[in-house]
Amino acid sequence: ENEEDLEERAPIVTIMGHVDHGKTSLLDYIRNANVTAGEAGGITQHIGAYKVKTESGRTVTFLDTPGHEAFTAMRARGAKVTDVVIIVVAADDSVMPQTKEAINHAQAAGSPIIIALNKIDKPGANPDKVREELSQMNILVEEWGGKYQSQEVSAKTGQGIPDLLEKVLLEAELLELKANPNRQAIGTVIEASLDKGRGYVATMLVQTGTLHIGDIVLAGSHYGRVKAMTDHRGRKMKEAGPSTPVQLLGLDGAPQAGDKFLVMESEREAREIASNRSQM
Ligand code: GTP
Ligand code: NA
Ligand code: MG
Repeated sequence: ENEEDLEERAPIVTIMGHVDHGKTSLLDYIRNANVTAGEAGGITQHIGAYKVKTESGRTVTFLDTPGHEAFTAMRARGAKVTDVVIIVVAADDSVMPQTKEAINHAQAAGSPIIIALNKIDKPGANPDKVREELSQMNILVEEWGGKYQSQEVSAKTGQGIPDLLEKVLLEAELLELKANPNRQAIGTVIEASLDKGRGYVATMLVQTGTLHIGDIVLAGSHYGRVKAMTDHRGRKMKEAGPSTPVQLLGLDGAPQAGDKFLVMESEREAREIASNRSQM
């Protein structure tokens, strides 16, 4: 890729942490929506992907993870999609097994980590206890002389959330994230499933290039022509550039989380590759 073809792209931020520590609530607050309320039992079943505009006018793409398998599966398949990881720890609780797992994932991927000490509004919140527990895993926060940025937040009141976003943007700036929007799209499958009314629906993250309606997409052992694309609110999109998550219709099946996708010139070639892969 030529340097002059590269343009700045939005950081892709993954929110990880132990079950019920407030990942989805935090993201809900950030994007002013209300997903947790609509989820049965408030348990995240799917990976959500959202592009958000901050007050300062910059865009950030967020991935919300259910505290478990889907993301693990993606990582096991070698998918590297995230630029920055926010580790959420409930300040009225403790560093838990999934907190540790999330930190290990982020470290293995070489992603910068920011700690969000959530539920700071709760009477039982004790963020220093959490900082202490983190330090035992060699995660020493800046206030304690370490290298990790941390922020006390409340996904309920919104306290600290603008500061958290600023820290995310600061961390992202250091990475000088760039991509070429003027090429055929390449990206990663976040998740895919069969929707009774719409056929196969795949949430894809475009990482470089721009994806268009009508493009021939090869994704894992599936392929198809892009029939429609929507954002997380169901709004129709004609194209999707770098760091943009889309829900895509038109594939002939459901690729797996973590599968790479790319755009091909020839439908016949895409079909052949897909078919060879599905016979493996
Ligand atoms: P999973 O996706 O199931 O792993 O959970 P999660 O980490 O996404 O947590 P979720 O956002 O579903 O929040 C769990 C519970 O904690 C919900 O009842 C939230 O309302 C509550 N909660 C989240 N953040 C806060 C907070 O800052 N303050 C208070 N008081 N409650 C919170
Ligand atoms: Na939950
Ligand atoms: Mg959740």
